[in-house]
Amino acid sequence: MALIALAADKGAPGVTTVATALGAVWPRAVLLAECDPAGGDLVYRLPGIDGGVLNPAKGLLSLGATARRGLHPEQIWEHTQKLVGGLDVLVGLTSGEQAAGLTWLWGPLGKAMAAMPDADVLADCGRLGAHPQMNELLSEASIVLLLARANLDHVAHLRERISAVARALTERNRVTPAQIGVVVIADPRQYRGSIDEVRRIVTASAESTRVPVSVLGGIAHDPKGAEMLRGQWGGRLDRSLLIRTARELAGRLAGRLAAQAQEQARQAQAVQRTGPRVPPPPAPQFDPPAGVNA
Ligand SMILES: Nc1ncnc2c1ncn2[C@@H]1O[C@H](COP(=O)(O)OP(=O)(O)OP(=O)(O)O)[C@@H](O)[C@H]1O
Ligand SMILES: [Mg+2]
Repeated sequence: MALIALAADKGAPGVTTVATALGAVWPRAVLLAECDPAGGDLVYRLPGIDGGVLNPAKGLLSLGATARRGLHPEQIWEHTQKLVGGLDVLVGLTSGEQAAGLTWLWGPLGKAMAAMPDADVLADCGRLGAHPQMNELLSEASIVLLLARANLDHVAHLRERISAVARALTERNRVTPAQIGVVVIADPRQYRGSIDEVRRIVTASAESTRVPVSVLGGIAHDPKGAEMLRGQWGGRLDRSLLIRTARELAGRLAGRLAAQAQEQARQAQAVQRTGPRVPPPPAPQFDPPAGVNA
């Protein structure tokens, strides 16, 4: 189905938290894959479905050991585990050092995850910059989601990161470059205002750089919800602002993926009929999210 890559520039805006929250409420079959070269966190944060600790040796590390001989989408399931609540996860590396020997993996892994027939993949790619090979994975994604908190330094770094990612995707000759989307981690008291402000800055810079990027929405800054997501998932978590905003974003992303798939099918049909001369349609526009404004 589709690969959705989540990443950030500087700081720790909450990529792992957002990836986990989206996975918990994703409206289609989904796998959460910890691809952060700096190492994964889920093993330390959440129990497995049986209440025990997740096995840190079964995941990206074990997949990497077998993938040297080639990597097929079906192979990935042999290395996944289930979190409490039932979400399938590919557990990440246990330390950043392991990534040094796995730089070759990101491209084939991206291809395999994007080609999984039975699930979307939410890939937590951590902070970008230190591992240029991660661009190989990003260029396989249907959507690259860049996360930032709504403050000046995060947004300034975000603009630079958008340009760098767009360059990397273009260099890799994507026929239609993966749409780059921004998600703002915003204070619920100024939720819409913060998202709109980031949208204004990102749009202005996108117009001058001609990079296809849109602000896709927000996730509430919700320390209680984030804390609950590190423990047992329960009813109160479901009603948290974090999960409510994640549900809204997940619905919006799934809608965008369905529109992309429809458009690809339309283009494939047009190519069959007329040959490859079909102009690309304008990118779909999305309204700011509703519901959590103060
Ligand atoms: N939406 C949120 N609201 C409140 N706190 C959050 C939110 N998202 C994350 N946090 C908190 O911020 C800290 C960092 O979150 P997280 O590990 O998800 O960030 P990250 O971007 O993945 O960081 P790293 O690059 O270190 O992997 C955690 O303590 C987490 O509980
Ligand atoms: Mg993380």
